[in-house]
Amino acid sequence: MATLIFDHSGDEVELPDNSPIAEACEEAGVPFACTEGVCGTCVIEIKEGNENLSKATQEEEDFLGEGTSHERLACQCRIKSGRVRITF
Ligand code: FES
Repeated sequence: MATLIFDHSGDEVELPDNSPIAEACEEAGVPFACTEGVCGTCVIEIKEGNENLSKATQEEEDFLGEGTSHERLACQCRIKSGRVRITF
């Protein structure tokens, strides 16, 4: 199991390894719009555990720029395992 931690509230959500994080983020209040990695509404900041997230998708690289390590699109990334702390 992997753990997603919301920095502003301290809430922790357990997710199966390799799960998309979109649903948990939406429940925590992250705004979504397109859900396809195009609009950028769901940008989150990774405070800790960046290495535990899936590789950035092409949509994320197009929107956020290549090699940006602290911002991700919540509708695109998956948590691989371990702990990831985010804020939005
Ligand atoms: S909801 Fe549009 S980029 Fe994620």
